[in-house]
Amino acid sequence: MPVTPIEFKAAMGRFAAGVTVVTTVDASGKAWGLTVTAFSSVSLDPPLCLACIDRRAASLEVFRASRKLGVNMLAADQEELSARFASRLEDKFAGVAWAPGPVTGSPLLAGVVATLECRIVDFLGGGDHDILIASVETVTTRDALPLVYFQGRYGDVAPRG
Ligand SMILES: Cc1cc2nc3c(=O)[nH]c(=O)nc-3n(C[C@H](O)[C@H](O)[C@H](O)COP(=O)(O)O)c2cc1C
Repeated sequence: MPVTPIEFKAAMGRFAAGVTVVTTVDASGKAWGLTVTAFSSVSLDPPLCLACIDRRAASLEVFRASRKLGVNMLAADQEELSARFASRLEDKFAGVAWAPGPVTGSPLLAGVVATLECRIVDFLGGGDHDILIASVETVTTRDALPLVYFQGRYGDVAPRG
């Protein structure tokens, strides 16, 4: 019997994930972004990461054109940003503190635990998602606890010791 989307989601929901907002800019300078948990490192040397984006996402075409990717790893107190960037709000960036990354211009959000600025080097087909492979060009980090997504709910990391 083939695995159904519901069964697959039930399993994947048990794989606790950090929450990112991935961003880019279009040719007119407009900022775009969406909430993504399907994010991973790929290679350390050279530094590569990947993000999986639904083919129905409005921003996918913008990523295809810009080939630029900002990754914002949300902090524990940024659940509201996760919901905002997963919504269909006309201007997801209204009232959000952010600045263009120095190398790619991709929006980097304030208060996150880490940011990456990347250039997208490949788009791979992945079923109903596209897999964006990106070369990491700048990094920032901040000492704070991350937001976690687990079984359809947000949670906190409790470090041991
Ligand atoms: C916690 C969470 C994780 C998500 N992870 C992904 C993901 O990995 N890939 C994806 O394409 N959409 C993901 N989404 C859904 C998108 O954020 C959502 O569909 C968004 O509105 C798409 O924006 P756009 O259509 O403006 O591009 C996630 C949503 C939430 C709430």
